[in-house]
Amino acid sequence: FSSGLLSGLDVVITAGPTREAIDPVRYISNHSSGKMGYALAQACAEAGARTRLISGPTRLSCPANVERIDVVSAQDMLEAALACKADIFIGAAAVADYRPETIAAQKIKKQGSDSASTTLTLVQNPDIIATIAAGTHKPFMVGFAAETENIVDYARNKLIKKRLDLVIANDVSRHDIGFNSDDNAVTLISAASEEYLEPRSKYQLALELVRRIAIAYR
Ligand code: PMT
Repeated sequence: FSSGLLSGLDVVITAGPTREAIDPVRYISNHSSGKMGYALAQACAEAGARTRLISGPTRLSCPANVERIDVVSAQDMLEAALACKADIFIGAAAVADYRPETIAAQKIKKQGSDSASTTLTLVQNPDIIATIAAGTHKPFMVGFAAETENIVDYARNKLIKKRLDLVIANDVSRHDIGFNSDDNAVTLISAASEEYLEPRSKYQLALELVRRIAIAYR
């Protein structure tokens, strides 16, 4: 029962995928449905936090008592995140690490039949959570790590590299948890500890994560 655990706190959560435009018709994206981030937003609001959800395109409706800010690209998501003061920042979004170097003004026409392939140059997107963590008023920083192998090691590297307080690592090579699933299982990683939380619904997991975040925040 988590009501009151986050009373009076400002929580900002990024969720869902980003879409990186190639031309007016096409984009690069990923399989994030937003379910994990939306479950966290619902649990944070239920715990009494003022909760803002910066969301890429999803099919989900905004949880009760949550303020949603809709964004499309990683650059839009960064701009929205920089505009929000947060006591706690949770990066649950699957942010595209790269975007096309240029967005074509018109739909790219298929080359003549003689060219079997075409090349798209990608450039790095800003690292949103690392940028927020490096800001002057650093919130309590909670990141996710989407890994397919060496999960704890890679996630711990992100904890250090991005200067986060907690990293929630999940194995996205499995189909029963991670992207787009209703359930998830995570390893909670902090400088001092790591703890495995076995599979459960993303909402039940979010309730447990709110309890851990409230304790770690104090
Ligand atoms: O949305 P669902 O379908 O419910 O799936 C949930 C999820 C698998 C998307 C979620 O649990 C998850 O793992 N989200 C993080 C996905 C991701 O991009 O992980 P990463 O290891 O690439 O990124 C590490 C951290 O940096 C994350 O907090 C991410 O939000 C953040 N990041 C990454 C790249 C970038 N350019 N900016 C960022 O802020």
